[in-house]
Amino acid sequence: MNALKNKERRPAGRGQAAAGTRPSRGPAGQARSPSPKPSGRPPEKAAKPAPEKAAKPTQAAPVETRALLSRNGERPAERVPVILESAGAGDFHLIDSGNGLKLEQYGPYRIVRPEAQALWQPSLPAHLWEKADAVFTGDTDEDGMGRWRFPKEALGETWPLSLAGVDFLGRFTAFRHVGVFPEQIVHWDWMKARVEEAEREKERPVRVLNLFGYTGVASLVAAAAGAEVTHVDASKKAIGWARENQALARLDKAPIRWICEDAMKFILREERRGNRYDIILTDPPKFGRGPNGEVWQLFDHLPLMLDICRELLSSKAIGLVLTAYSIRASFYSIHELMRETMRGAGGAVESGELVIREAGLDGKSPGRALSTSLFSRWVPA
Ligand SMILES: C[S@@+](CC[C@H](N)C(=O)[O-])C[C@H]1O[C@@H](n2cnc3c(N)ncnc32)[C@H](O)[C@@H]1O
Repeated sequence: MNALKNKERRPAGRGQAAAGTRPSRGPAGQARSPSPKPSGRPPEKAAKPAPEKAAKPTQAAPVETRALLSRNGERPAERVPVILESAGAGDFHLIDSGNGLKLEQYGPYRIVRPEAQALWQPSLPAHLWEKADAVFTGDTDEDGMGRWRFPKEALGETWPLSLAGVDFLGRFTAFRHVGVFPEQIVHWDWMKARVEEAEREKERPVRVLNLFGYTGVASLVAAAAGAEVTHVDASKKAIGWARENQALARLDKAPIRWICEDAMKFILREERRGNRYDIILTDPPKFGRGPNGEVWQLFDHLPLMLDICRELLSSKAIGLVLTAYSIRASFYSIHELMRETMRGAGGAVESGELVIREAGLDGKSPGRALSTSLFSRWVPA
């Protein structure tokens, strides 16, 4: 079980720190573990490259930076609010929620985890909740430490799951996370459709950049659809899990670059190199750390991150997708930032929330919608 430690990580949220945690949805941990220093430029396209390594952490390395570019032109059209709802798919559905908890089905297991947004009362009787296979208890913050209890029998750390047609491992981690954020499936479905369209039209191989990629499910969905993928995460452990998932998904030969690096540092370098991407997914935690202690603070660094991402979009870009969780903000905050960043680019910015609808014990009985995160997506039309 991974027990990521990141002293500066404030609990809660999905992800975090690369160093391991999902800092707000965070992963795996890692963080500050010695990591290898990037050894030169990563291959532009490699079937199964070794993860780039990061250098042994010394002190928080100052991340090279640049000023925001001044953006002119019209802001893109807007579509708000857009609520992207998933009702479960593949091996996942939300069974019930309430009383600060959620009861989810992940393949064979029913799992109970804290859920601060569930202010209402559960629909199902307590005796059904008590039949859960795994219960996370501990800090109520999203990235808070805690422990798993297995009321029926001890379970292994991982188990097989499948979502969006991709096989991977569910995983009981120390931060209540289970190796996947199923609300993201709406972004994966959108991306898969766009990549397959481009493949059908034989325009070109679609290049996807997945920043803060965690266990790699989005990267694998993109690769399975035919994209060339660059996956970046600061957690060596998360990258290891992502590579395990790649094997499980039978995508060993797919062109995925696994890069263990600070996301900001990586994109600054890509900008200098002139590398471009057709789709960029970025799902940053509120707080995180790069492998060399580089600090990521969403409220300080998001404007520059989006600014650089815009420069990384190819001339035939398909989309720039931002998800933000565990922050005190309205979707309008990231929506207007995205529109300012994309001034003069045309297209539209659509923003709102990702929600998961309860589906009951049978996975087919719609109930309440549980909000999971904010998103903003620029698309060319
Ligand atoms: C919430 S998770 C992302 C979840 C992922 N998008 C998904 O759907 O599975 C946040 C990830 O950001 C990584 N991270 C935190 N700080 C980072 C940084 N400075 N650079 C790169 N990755 C970082 C963490 O290791 C973690 O895997």
